[in-house]
Amino acid sequence: MAQKVLITAAASGIGREIARAFSSAGAAVFITDINTQALDTAQKEMPGLLIKMCDNSKRSDIEATVPAAIEALGGLDVLINNAGLSGPTAPVEQIDPDQWEAVMAIDLTGTFNVTRLAIPQLKKSAAGSIIIMSSLGGRFGYPNRSPYCVAKAGLIAFAKTLAIELGDYNIRANAIAPGAVGGERIENVLAGRAKVSGKSVDQERASMLAIQSLKRFVDPKDIASLCLFLTSDAGKSISGQVIPIDNDALKAS
Ligand SMILES: NC(=O)c1ccc[n+]([C@@H]2O[C@H](COP(=O)([O-])OP(=O)(O)OC[C@H]3O[C@@H](n4cnc5c(N)ncnc54)[C@H](O)[C@@H]3O)[C@@H](O)[C@H]2O)c1
Repeated sequence: MAQKVLITAAASGIGREIARAFSSAGAAVFITDINTQALDTAQKEMPGLLIKMCDNSKRSDIEATVPAAIEALGGLDVLINNAGLSGPTAPVEQIDPDQWEAVMAIDLTGTFNVTRLAIPQLKKSAAGSIIIMSSLGGRFGYPNRSPYCVAKAGLIAFAKTLAIELGDYNIRANAIAPGAVGGERIENVLAGRAKVSGKSVDQERASMLAIQSLKRFVDPKDIASLCLFLTSDAGKSISGQVIPIDNDALKAS
């Protein structure tokens, strides 16, 4: 039977790539996002895609959206918690507490709220699966990115806890930890770093890649393939894990 899949914050970026992969594999896919225009564009591109605006920092939005997604899909087999704000870049003592709370609200609390509402339905699935988008920063920390790294490390603990709590229901939970992902976002990061350091963008690129065994950025399609594998029957023995997909990054840069 076709998988019923809910993906948060998936109108663009990595989430949209994951939605494409599940749609192409014949799954019924429901995506949420704060950006209604991007949701409409995604729906045009992927006929049959189910969409709903949801601000993951708002509990009321989530409480309206998850039940609507379950109803539209007619159940739920796979939950992909993709939503995540990158947050401010500054040393800890200069982080604005409001910005700290904004990251926690989306990355941690939003993920908790989506997941708690999805669990009763996942328990009815023959093979429920939860994926949580963590980050290399959640494993190693990133300088000047404390809210993001703390939230992403917390999500690893959440995935491990879910795996233990839900194993009796044949629900698996895993965290994925991407490193530097190719695309517009990384090019903006490199341009920003070059501006601060006075180095060229290519020099910044080289130093970012220097910490990796494989000298390239992660292809978002590979993250989508990992999600497909982990939630498929082939991944049925994998739960409670954090799976890096980072070209073997040996530390954070
Ligand atoms: N891009 C990377 O290099 C990278 C690396 C490691 C981990 N990640 C993680 O992967 C996930 C996806 O990353 P991305 O780069 O595709 O993200 P992105 O910045 O491209 O954003 C994806 C989507 O999130 C939506 N969004 C923003 N605020 C929202 C909110 N309050 N509620 C709902 N939706 C909201 C945006 O409209 C956008 O469509 C995130 O959790 C991110 O932390 C990304």
